[in-house]
Amino acid sequence: MKLTLLSSVLALSSTSLAATSTGIIVEPKTNISFSSFSDSASGYTFGIALPTTPGTDFIGYLAGKGVGWSGVSLGGPMTNKLLVVAWPNSKATSIVGSFREVAKYGPPPEVTGTFTQTAIPAGTYTDGKTWSYVFLCSKCIASDGTTFAATDATGALGWAVNAAAPATPDKSSSSLSKHTSQGKISLDLKAAQSANYATWAALATKSSRIVRK
Ligand code: HEM
Repeated sequence: MKLTLLSSVLALSSTSLAATSTGIIVEPKTNISFSSFSDSASGYTFGIALPTTPGTDFIGYLAGKGVGWSGVSLGGPMTNKLLVVAWPNSKATSIVGSFREVAKYGPPPEVTGTFTQTAIPAGTYTDGKTWSYVFLCSKCIASDGTTFAATDATGALGWAVNAAAPATPDKSSSSLSKHTSQGKISLDLKAAQSANYATWAALATKSSRIVRK
């Protein structure tokens, strides 16, 4: 009897270890509410917060474990879409964020454009075990097909993660090893809308794209 109970507890916990989930989460340090996707095995989370009338900007939330990188495709597939990737720096004192884009499967190089990411310091930190990056993504919603559209009720996005550190973690242009887990995600963008958006977006400070804890 005891053994049966124990094995069902183990079965339950191994199921929950592999679980992915979507829904609203409140990031505890900023109290910002995000429509989110999480993968408990890798510690990956991506969340998005939008104003009640979405335009070109959103607040993003990327999280991961250890020294690894977490990325989101703002358009779904990996290729020909705007990718945002983030990871802790080499001293575990800050988070580095990077835009990437690539036409064919392969290491995506850094890309520049009118889009910018600016950290919200309270939600941007690492304790060595887990890390969190809350950022204002300005001009990140494009109308050229590289991202979801401001009018989409559901965001067809993609996620990717690797627990290994980028080769030169202090540089936003660092090369990355291929993800160990990846896939498509469907996020409720209506639920991502909040009347508090402008207040939250004002917490992003230009100087803090790379932030000390
Ligand atoms: C660094 C080297 C990378 C290589 C060699 C690579 C390669 C690939 C390949 C071959 C696939 C197809 C599925 C598979 O065979 O596993 C794929 C899928 C995917 N990759 Fe990457 N990738 C890299 C980095 C990234 C990064 C940084 C992101 C950031 C978001 C990303 C996002 C995705 C997503 C969302 C998918 C699933 C959707 C799709 O198949 O297009 N990848 N990748």
